[in-house]
Amino acid sequence: MAETFDISLDSLAGCSVAPQNIAVPGTFAPSTDGATFFLETFGCQMNDHDSEKVAGLLLSRGYRQVESPDAASLVLYNTCSIREKAAQKVFSRLGEYRTKQAPGQIIGVLGCVAQQEGEEIFQRTPWVSLVCGSASYRRLPELLSQLEAGNQRVTGLDNDADETFETPVTRRDNPWRAYLTIIEGCDKACAYCVVPFTRGPERSRASDSVLREVRELVDLGYSEVQLLGQTVNSYADPSARKMRFSDLLLAVADVPGIRRVRFTTSHPRDFGADIVAALEAQPKLCNHVHLPVQSGSTRILRAMTRTYTRGEYLEKIAMLRSAKRQIAITTDVIVGFPGETEDDFAETLSLLEEVRYDSLFSFKYSPRPNTPSLSMPDAISEEEKSRRLTLLQEAQREIQSQRNATLVGRTFELLVSGKSRREHQWSGHTACHRVVNFASQERALLGTYVQVRVTGAGPNSLVGEQVT
Ligand code: 5AD
Ligand code: SF4
Repeated sequence: MAETFDISLDSLAGCSVAPQNIAVPGTFAPSTDGATFFLETFGCQMNDHDSEKVAGLLLSRGYRQVESPDAASLVLYNTCSIREKAAQKVFSRLGEYRTKQAPGQIIGVLGCVAQQEGEEIFQRTPWVSLVCGSASYRRLPELLSQLEAGNQRVTGLDNDADETFETPVTRRDNPWRAYLTIIEGCDKACAYCVVPFTRGPERSRASDSVLREVRELVDLGYSEVQLLGQTVNSYADPSARKMRFSDLLLAVADVPGIRRVRFTTSHPRDFGADIVAALEAQPKLCNHVHLPVQSGSTRILRAMTRTYTRGEYLEKIAMLRSAKRQIAITTDVIVGFPGETEDDFAETLSLLEEVRYDSLFSFKYSPRPNTPSLSMPDAISEEEKSRRLTLLQEAQREIQSQRNATLVGRTFELLVSGKSRREHQWSGHTACHRVVNFASQERALLGTYVQVRVTGAGPNSLVGEQVT
């Protein structure tokens, strides 16, 4: 997979206690006094952010976070089921507890696999006590109370919650960039995708609540925020203010202390001229748009129910390319969707040449339970999917090498987020979300903004030197 940009996807929120919960007092009752948790996250940025909220919730209940599952009274896996491999990984983790579960230790499965598999998880891995889907996190406190009271099997599997998942405390992992979910779930129903099933329907957060959190983030020292949603630009303010997504972007950028605003993932159907106008007008809005295309063939896009044709997608690209600011564009592509012919695939390759993306995430089609494409005829063999994936990635690598080479000599502002073990070597992201490794004699750069001149380029990153 050609991955230059550290973006990806997925989201959540609401829970219920299954009627068949079996209360076994004393068996699993961790006194939160001295209770510890271990939390491992799989999947996208939205899962990462959900885990930050789950960790915040547990910390506020007196749990302490530990680095190893062996030492934890509560072991949680926040899972991803977007492709089969991701789901398998979770079951192999859970399998380890057949022999290694410590007495009294609680194992919980959160996220998309929990929603997907539901109570089947208890049959498959009976040592699991908590199964809570990502659309049910709103009631996680209630489920934790049930566990703390000694219930042995609790589930949160509602999928129709109309509230989003907010906690008073979020334990943020990234000290430089704060993530904020502004819309949960997805209504788009792409034929291959589990998300509408695992995360439920779209629910947007009130603009006032988003802006309040942005102000709190500034108080905590953040100057860069990233707004998250499966289809972030389908945001529909439920409050009387009725802010459009582009209005919200501008309002977030206006919060004093905010210097960079990012957003992901955008759906082409809802990507309008007002968003481009906002990007043009407000330099604090980062000049990067992640706009998944999935396929370059209109025939396959129809089969995928993507709701746009190749031509309509290219119109959105033309709109972005004609903006007054240069805007980096990245995408997702699936190869080997059922019925994808050589000609369809050739259209995807030609779309890459036409758009010349700054970066791309590419995937082999993975048949998923509960999705319409599961029963579609004309499956493509694994070998053929692999062949197409390699061709696609080679083509993209060449495009990225060429695009990045044109940046040599230019100066970018970076937010410094990494320090190499090699002396005087640092790394950071440009507003257009490229990674730049650079040299500087300064001693304390982490979290600061610096100007860096690009001196070299590879397909996946740039190198440079600090100029101020
Ligand atoms: N198989 C392969 N890739 C998928 N994606 C979503 N569902 C599937 C699937 N069943 C990809 C899409 C989406 C990205 C997050 O994951 O490209 O944009
Ligand atoms: Fe899945 Fe399509 Fe929704 Fe994206 S827009 S989360 S691919 S259903």
